[in-house]
Amino acid sequence: MTAYGIGLLGCGRISENHLRGYRHAAALDGVGEIVALCDANPAVLEQQATKHEVATQYGRLEDLAADPRVDVVTVLTPPDVRCQVVVPLLEAGKHVLVEKPFAHTLEEAREMVDAAAANHRLLAVNQNYRWRADTLKLKELIDSGAIGRVVGIHQLHAMWRDEGPGWRRTTDYLALAVMAVHWLDRFRWLTGDEGATVYAATRSTGLLQSKGEDWAAVTVTFQHGTIAQLTEDWCSASRHHADSLLIDATEGSLVAKGTTITRYGRRQGDEQQYEAAGAFPSTFAHSMRLLLQAIAEGGEPSISGRDNLGTMALLDGAYRSAATGDVIRLEPNGIGARSNGEALPPTGAQHPLAAAGGAHVAH
Ligand SMILES: NC(=O)c1ccc[n+]([C@@H]2O[C@H](COP(=O)([O-])OP(=O)(O)OC[C@H]3O[C@@H](n4cnc5c(N)ncnc54)[C@H](O)[C@@H]3O)[C@@H](O)[C@H]2O)c1
Repeated sequence: MTAYGIGLLGCGRISENHLRGYRHAAALDGVGEIVALCDANPAVLEQQATKHEVATQYGRLEDLAADPRVDVVTVLTPPDVRCQVVVPLLEAGKHVLVEKPFAHTLEEAREMVDAAAANHRLLAVNQNYRWRADTLKLKELIDSGAIGRVVGIHQLHAMWRDEGPGWRRTTDYLALAVMAVHWLDRFRWLTGDEGATVYAATRSTGLLQSKGEDWAAVTVTFQHGTIAQLTEDWCSASRHHADSLLIDATEGSLVAKGTTITRYGRRQGDEQQYEAAGAFPSTFAHSMRLLLQAIAEGGEPSISGRDNLGTMALLDGAYRSAATGDVIRLEPNGIGARSNGEALPPTGAQHPLAAAGGAHVAH
């Protein structure tokens, strides 16, 4: 079988994880091959093309879109560059994997989903935190019934993140769109449920050089009753020391701290610990692998643009709530179908990319 040709649009910070992830021998099982890079900035284009030995380089989207060897494009542009690049790529007949956040508004996300359907192309969103070793273990434990039905989730993510020059310093959409979107998506993924209401409060403290919100509190109620509370804090001198995730369920609880996950049973003393560590670039490769599988076999990947409307409904709802002070009630029809039965990557050290080198943790 001929490998699908992959082109990357955007050779900035996160391209390294995609390139390293895709390039590892076993990563795409020979089904995908990087054939071209594109960036409007010649310096980063040249740097990544040389480092990763990609011969074809384009400075303009139109040239990438016109290359017949490119079947799939990974879109790695800043979040405010979405529809204007994703829609022409779909119209040119390319399948697209777009980085998170899918968009800044639900409306923009819907426009891209509609364009994919109209052009009979697949569109997927790189919600790669679903494939992190800790998430894989949490999902395995929840899906196995080890703690019963999830009733509530409490997550605190607190770091000191003062960005250098670039879009993260100037965007109006910071902590929620750049980071909390991973956790909102993970709440959906772990519970298998969709949001019903969202309430959020945000502030820009002025402690950082970035303009957008750097402290955010979000409460989501899900359609089957789970309540999820999230604090996303970018200006905490605690620098991740206070980070925690607690999942309470009918038969037990899960606590994740760093790479350690502890399951607590209802009976006192019934507890078990698991270590969940893995290589970060492998999570990027897995998103691409799912998209290539879906192209080859038909159907949609679990991370489809349509699925991501559920995540976008939470992000969009959180921004609307923060702006108005209202509780936002979500429309069930804003949420797409989810495909099932897809194999998850193996966890931790067993993963084919566990030996691919040090993790590049960026968000
Ligand atoms: N999934 C993750 O874990 C993760 C981690 C980091 C970043 N991201 C996401 O990746 C995306 C990119 O982030 P980044 O930090 O790499 O940004 P960046 O600013 O470092 O790189 C973006 C690149 O896109 C190029 N670009 C912009 N518009 C273009 C256009 N129209 N044509 C050609 N090139 C264009 C820029 O020249 C730049 O080199 C963001 O959406 C971000 O949220 C995801």
